[in-house]
Amino acid sequence: MTPIPGLFNSFLLKLGILALTAPAQLYALPTNPRFSDWAGSAGDNESNGGAPLRGAVVSSYKLAPGQDADADLGIPFRWDDTKNPQPIRGTWGATDPGPQTYEYSKLNPDIVAPPSTDHNSMPNAKWPMELSHNRLVPNGAGWSRQENTENLPIATAMAGVDMLLAPGAYRELHWHKASEWAYVLNGSCRVQAMDENGQTYVDDVQAGDVWFFPPGVPHSLQALDEGSEFLLVFDQGDFDDSGTGLISEMFLRTPKEVLSKNLNAPLSDFDQLPKDELYIFNGTPAPANLTAQNVTGPGGVARGNHSYTYHLSKQSAYEVPGGSIKIIDPQSFPLASTFSVALVTIHPGAMREIHWHSTDEWGFFVSGQGRVTAYSPPTTGGTFDFQAGDVSYVPATYSHYIENTGDEDIVFLEVLQAPEFTDISVGQWLKLVPEQIIKDTLHLPQSLLDNLSPNKQYIVQGNTNLTALAGGSGTA
Ligand SMILES: *[C@@H]1O[C@H](CO)[C@@H](O)[C@H](O)[C@H]1NC(C)=O
Ligand SMILES: *[C@@H]1O[C@H](CO)[C@@H](O)[C@H](O)[C@H]1NC(C)=O
Ligand SMILES: *[C@@H]1O[C@H](CO)[C@@H](O)[C@H](O)[C@H]1NC(C)=O
Ligand SMILES: *[C@@H]1O[C@H](CO)[C@@H](O)[C@H](O)[C@H]1NC(C)=O
Ligand SMILES: *[C@@H]1O[C@H](CO)[C@@H](O)[C@H](O)[C@H]1NC(C)=O
Ligand SMILES: *[C@@H]1O[C@H](CO)[C@@H](O)[C@H](O)[C@H]1NC(C)=O
Repeated sequence: MTPIPGLFNSFLLKLGILALTAPAQLYALPTNPRFSDWAGSAGDNESNGGAPLRGAVVSSYKLAPGQDADADLGIPFRWDDTKNPQPIRGTWGATDPGPQTYEYSKLNPDIVAPPSTDHNSMPNAKWPMELSHNRLVPNGAGWSRQENTENLPIATAMAGVDMLLAPGAYRELHWHKASEWAYVLNGSCRVQAMDENGQTYVDDVQAGDVWFFPPGVPHSLQALDEGSEFLLVFDQGDFDDSGTGLISEMFLRTPKEVLSKNLNAPLSDFDQLPKDELYIFNGTPAPANLTAQNVTGPGGVARGNHSYTYHLSKQSAYEVPGGSIKIIDPQSFPLASTFSVALVTIHPGAMREIHWHSTDEWGFFVSGQGRVTAYSPPTTGGTFDFQAGDVSYVPATYSHYIENTGDEDIVFLEVLQAPEFTDISVGQWLKLVPEQIIKDTLHLPQSLLDNLSPNKQYIVQGNTNLTALAGGSGTA
């Protein structure tokens, strides 16, 4: 092939690409020796005495505890203390000498080294809000970022916005076609609205409370003393928070003659209108006493079942051994007639049991870290890792669980488009099917069936000693 094969080969040897002439070793995977065992000789610097031309490929690495366990056990492991995480699980996978940024690996061990039970190609079910391009507004008034089908295409039924208002800042008077359900993450905020019947509403909400605005109802928000961060969920997958109707824009887009006629005011009254949309902007601090802003319209003041807010922070949680749950759905918050939500707390090592819903689930990790495997009928399964600030999305009828893989509680919002918060619990299902059917199908022992509860567990504790489960030392 080449007229000077000897020179060419010695050149390759100098570069340390010895493997090109030794394919047998290269393809000896996945059993030892691994890729790294031959790759370690790269970087010959004898020729010039300087740094290696190609730098070092993977020459030494350490597996995290649990990483060497059988791949179908799917032990959750963490790479927090691992210098160079490798895509290896049990005897599956091999080292990665290629370009990589280990920070991503450390956040996603089940994506980089999935359990071997994962199968086929699961659409991406995770979106970290921090990867959404942020919309900062001038003068320190706040910011807003969003998840929608542009960054998470699977999430067709719902979209989310994470917004911060500095103390006294407004989210401008606005309206939109989608329904808006919100959860206050931090601080406190005043919400106000007026509906088609001239019925009015004003209320203050704090961290842990929720609000809801039906389509078309104009509303605004103003952060109180310490500012406020909140999460908005819309029942429209391609919702764009930059696309809402704004009162400033509506005035800018209407001829002044029409404004003057409609509002029975001289043209000069419109001289000071804002020259551009406001969106989020600083304002006069809201009066501390809510009564000062309690405008009563001909339709009266919304209250009881018409209330636009629900003080979920005041609702006590339903406690179970591995955590707790607060359910808020139209039975307790009727105005939000399509939003059924569970606020789930999962202690370290515990797990939201395997279940599915008859509608899509939009999820948000308020705190903690965990992982989710979604089984997509008929034959696809995919595992994803989540941290605080991540959005998850599981389509209707896909079975899934949420396992706490961290050292602190997971606080997680499970948001459905449904008239009631419901799920199918797999544990309950197995218990309530005639035993013979389960035994003939899954060959499970009587003892397992005897131990199952006929009631939903919501959260299970199980075996939290992963090293014991793997039956190994956990290192390699
Ligand atoms: C090769 O490079 C390494 C790291 O820079 C250095 O420690 C070593 O002395 C070099 N070897 C030779 C033969 O120059
Ligand atoms: C709200 O944010 C402040 C400032 O970052 C923080 O100290 C506080 O813990 C947060 N509160 C909640 C409820 O998250
Ligand atoms: C708020 O204002 C109303 C009306 O002026 C008054 O009756 C009420 O006592 C005030 N509440 C507080 C907490 O100051
Ligand atoms: C607002 O006014 C209505 C009556 O118009 C009253 O029932 C309600 O308690 C008031 N709310 C507050 C917070 O002042
Ligand atoms: C409020 O809504 C609940 C749940 O839908 C319902 O049971 C209750 O009867 C309603 N109350 C009134 C006063 O309409
Ligand atoms: C976990 O299991 C291993 C192996 O059985 C055992 O050595 C270790 O003490 C256990 N750790 C805890 C915290 O129970």
